[in-house]
Amino acid sequence: MSEWTIGIIGGSGLYAIDALEEAQWIPVQSPWGEPSDEILCGRIGHVRVRFLPRHGRGHRIAPSTINARANIDALKRAGCTDILAISAVGSLSEELAPGRFVAVDQFIDNTKGRASSFFGDGFVAHVSMADPVCQRLSKHAARSVAMAGGECAEGATYLAMEGPQFSTRAESRLYRHWGAELIGMTGMPEAKLAREAELPYALLAMVTDWDCWREETEAVDLAQVVEQMQRNAKLAREVIETFCKNLPKKRTPSPIDQALSDAVITAPDRHD
Ligand code: ADE
Repeated sequence: MSEWTIGIIGGSGLYAIDALEEAQWIPVQSPWGEPSDEILCGRIGHVRVRFLPRHGRGHRIAPSTINARANIDALKRAGCTDILAISAVGSLSEELAPGRFVAVDQFIDNTKGRASSFFGDGFVAHVSMADPVCQRLSKHAARSVAMAGGECAEGATYLAMEGPQFSTRAESRLYRHWGAELIGMTGMPEAKLAREAELPYALLAMVTDWDCWREETEAVDLAQVVEQMQRNAKLAREVIETFCKNLPKKRTPSPIDQALSDAVITAPDRHD
């Protein structure tokens, strides 16, 4: 059994965490390029926390240009054992109204041309993405929302779109036909890369809008997203604090810690 070091990836509206003790922004270098920002390192109770704002402080980085490989690699180098990601999303489901938190359990990756693997040239690995989130973290995140006084749905399919424009109505309806219930621009390839880095990953989505499939509602615009995000951000901070304080004192291993053990196909004598 070991200590928890929780990497928190903050989405739109979440650029720092006040509850962090001994907090310090620390630059972390990665061979994969520039992470979105320095990492805010500190502690909440018995848990070490490494916080990275996905879009950078001041929201400087658009979804398509986030260097997800550098972000995940930097969190791994900063000692993270697990990642809790937080994202603003649109709803594609009548059941998931704005204001709701949702523990995502499936993804559809409809992004275009983002660097989405650490593997390729000279070293080939195929990790399983059948169950892309860590159930242990995800359930704990959902419980933490309830403990912090919010409502959290458990289990939903998140469609990652390229953006930065929002969807057309035809696209929004199509994604509903595909079975997607939430839409966002950043959950992929982040979740894939976390799995390749053998980091258990959970995504807590905050619903900010109805996207544009619903006839009776105005189509999503940025003002709506920002307003709902600001309403959710206070609760999100409380959820993070509750999440950390209520983790068990010691971390037992997760099967995801060994996700690469059966995934590498390149012959050992050919490893660079
Ligand atoms: N993030 C928040 N709302 C969104 C939407 N409707 N589409 C894509 N990303 C979003």
